[in-house]
Amino acid sequence: MRILLVASAFNSLTQRVYAELRDRGHGVRVHVAAGDDPLREAVLRHCPDLILAPMLKAVLPEDVWSAHTCLIVHPGPAGDRGPSSLDWAIHEDAADWGVTVLQADAVMDAGAVWATAPCSLPPVGKSDLYRNEVSDAALEAVHLAVRRFASGRYVPQPQHGPEWKAPEHTRPYLRQGARRIDWSQESCDRILRTLRAADSQPGVLDELLGEQWYLHGGHPEGTLRGEPGQLLATRDGAICRATVDGAVWIPELRRRSRDGRRAVKLPATLALGADLPSLPEVPAPLGPPADRRTYAQIGYREHGSVGHVHFSFPGGAMSTEHCERLLAAYRHALQRPTDVVVIGGARDFFSNGIHLNVIDAAPDPAAESWANINAMDDLVAQILTTTDRLVVSAVAGNAAAGGVMLALAADEVWCRRGAVLNPHYRLMGLYGSEYWTYSLPRRVGPVAAEHLTRRALPVSASAAQRIGLVDRVVDAAPGEFGAAVEESAQRLARSPGLRERIARKKDARARDEADKPLRAYRAEELAVMHRNFFDPAEPYHRLRSAFVRKEPDPDALAHLDRLTDERR
Ligand code: COA
Repeated sequence: MRILLVASAFNSLTQRVYAELRDRGHGVRVHVAAGDDPLREAVLRHCPDLILAPMLKAVLPEDVWSAHTCLIVHPGPAGDRGPSSLDWAIHEDAADWGVTVLQADAVMDAGAVWATAPCSLPPVGKSDLYRNEVSDAALEAVHLAVRRFASGRYVPQPQHGPEWKAPEHTRPYLRQGARRIDWSQESCDRILRTLRAADSQPGVLDELLGEQWYLHGGHPEGTLRGEPGQLLATRDGAICRATVDGAVWIPELRRRSRDGRRAVKLPATLALGADLPSLPEVPAPLGPPADRRTYAQIGYREHGSVGHVHFSFPGGAMSTEHCERLLAAYRHALQRPTDVVVIGGARDFFSNGIHLNVIDAAPDPAAESWANINAMDDLVAQILTTTDRLVVSAVAGNAAAGGVMLALAADEVWCRRGAVLNPHYRLMGLYGSEYWTYSLPRRVGPVAAEHLTRRALPVSASAAQRIGLVDRVVDAAPGEFGAAVEESAQRLARSPGLRERIARKKDARARDEADKPLRAYRAEELAVMHRNFFDPAEPYHRLRSAFVRKEPDPDALAHLDRLTDERR
């Protein structure tokens, strides 16, 4: 079928729908909504059999939905309506939720239902849920709806009449007024729900040290205590704030803008800068007991001969400091008597490469970009040159640019079924480093490497496995990925021939090094990156500035239109 995706942005869910529908042989085009007329033109140009809106904030014009079947993905169960469904579900502590695919109609979310799928709501931030549990349910419902539409026989269920059992539940936009936190009264659990319901967007507007800030992210703290509302400590850029019955960690802040231009979200201590009072930096224990409630971006755990370097950074973004700390943790893991080292978090983003927000806020963004890419390269080099044990990248969620190349430095890449990979840099105006010119062609061959980096389109986990980008697709729910990886890693560590395999790997690295040293790959990549960063005529600084402020870049949208127009 010819399917036109219409979305407010080519966001994670739209990318996954795009990649998975293409995997199933459909001709898929993407139109990023920018008004009714451009949409009408896109419909005329593509003549779609079906229009599908995975994430659309605007209303489709009546002449489009009355002439074509238009299906809307609504992140709520059947009967739920409104623009802040998931926010309300978390805010009100719903345990179970769902996603519905319904037909566009005159009343928002009131059209006939084509498919619905349930999902759970574990206690994590909204955007994490959206990229994981909600995304899995959305894809289940989308595939079912597309099959039903293709059959030509299915009659969608109208939201009324004797067959309709779900109660109608319409809720308004969840405004900042309803998200307000009363630090002098509210418990940790209540505050965490409020923070998670607003994470990553729009954040919770709050007063901090006499200024207005949006708080982004929230994690429980089990030990630190203080006066409710008081700042207690810092850790890896996050701040810890006391509540009436404990404390919470807030990793990121965004200043309320006074000039109309959106401020950039930053690690909390960096955002507060000189305003930050003197607070103790309380380091995260490298391997906290599993039941300890605290916030740790990096950890190390060991079971038998498997070591696991955990990491999870907000937005998957890795600043110079993140890279340096992760490298230290990785080096610690290499000191341990293990045969297999797993790198990666238990859920959500693996990595999205260098930290564009921190770079943007730096006094000299070009110099900070340079420091950041070198710190990434140091980390990747250490993984590539690990020859005394096997390294596995556990990719629980999406990864992009240098984050994908970081995963490819390992001997094996295991990827959760729902993850979407973007193995390219060009949308940020960069050539890229992280030794990608060594590791990507080595895995997928030079032709596919060129194709992936030039076309700059998302790849599903299954497609990534087909082309050799990943070795194993892990069929696990988001909450079960960590346990599935642990079990497979234990099996790998016990596998016969492991020692021989490690020896073969060491020989292969030595041969590759003799053929062309890793430092030569790095030097060639960094020569181009230096130009990307320091030549003012290069587009990187403009693209980065637009990205971190969420200003759509017209060139990127045109590129997307062009690319998805190309033949498969
Ligand atoms: N630096 C800083 N922040 C980043 C980031 C990066 N490299 N990559 C992603 N983020 C942030 C996004 O700004 C977003 O922030 P928000 O939660 O406040 O909205 C969050 O992480 C999630 O990303 P988002 O773009 O909403 O997710 P997505 O799944 O829709 O899209 C990507 C994922 C990876 C395609 C997109 O984020 C992207 O292009 N990132 C930049 C990758 C890159 O060029 N890295 C630098 C070169 S190594």
